[in-house]
Amino acid sequence: MKKYIIANWKSQKNTAQVANWFQQFPKDKASKNLLQIFELIIAVPYPLIPLAQSSIEERQLPIKLAAQDLSAFGPGAFTGEVCPENLEAMSVEYAILGHSERRRFLKESSQLIADKIKEASRGKIKAILCVDRPYWQEQARLLASADLENSLLAYEPASAIGSGRAESVEELSLVKQELQEIYSASMPFIYGGSVNAGNVEDYLTLCDGAIIGTASLDALEFVDLLYHASKAVKE
Ligand code: PGA
Repeated sequence: MKKYIIANWKSQKNTAQVANWFQQFPKDKASKNLLQIFELIIAVPYPLIPLAQSSIEERQLPIKLAAQDLSAFGPGAFTGEVCPENLEAMSVEYAILGHSERRRFLKESSQLIADKIKEASRGKIKAILCVDRPYWQEQARLLASADLENSLLAYEPASAIGSGRAESVEELSLVKQELQEIYSASMPFIYGGSVNAGNVEDYLTLCDGAIIGTASLDALEFVDLLYHASKAVKE
């Protein structure tokens, strides 16, 4: 299984900045080969998905797209919501669900997140389920293993996100065991929270992937991170 690298742009970037990110992306063969090593995914704000999609296609980059949320309701009269059918034409394969920023600022509950996971599964979108200690038990109780069949499990400690204080690898290894008991050992286990070029190799050695927020915003910084991440991947 390829290791996952998931860039999470959050609610950042405008049209010009997305175009610029792809323009800056190195075009040489070695850089393209570097991308092939990973299951590389970018979570783009909804309105910018078509631009990201056409930029990826134009440059023939092995990059997949993720949404940063998904409706819990399916198609219908739900103003403001985006369901899998809305995303179909844009080749979106993944969705980050349950991110702690949405719990905090949008007051998302474990029940709502469970409903979104079920919707993702109905719509053939692979969910990247984010969890943290205060609610990971409650979240697991609301989901059956069938709901999680195509999902990835991302441990995202709120204290580590955007703070520069990444979880220690020792602590993460304990959390991994605990979470695999609560959820399943067969779900890819991802870590997110202040991952950067300096620490990504350690996290990828222990985990099946990483979510990268801040360090994915600049294309050249992100390529540098990929180079460091590749050291954790055995040929
Ligand atoms: P960060 O964000 O890399 O900026 O800490 C990670 C995340 O929110 O998933």
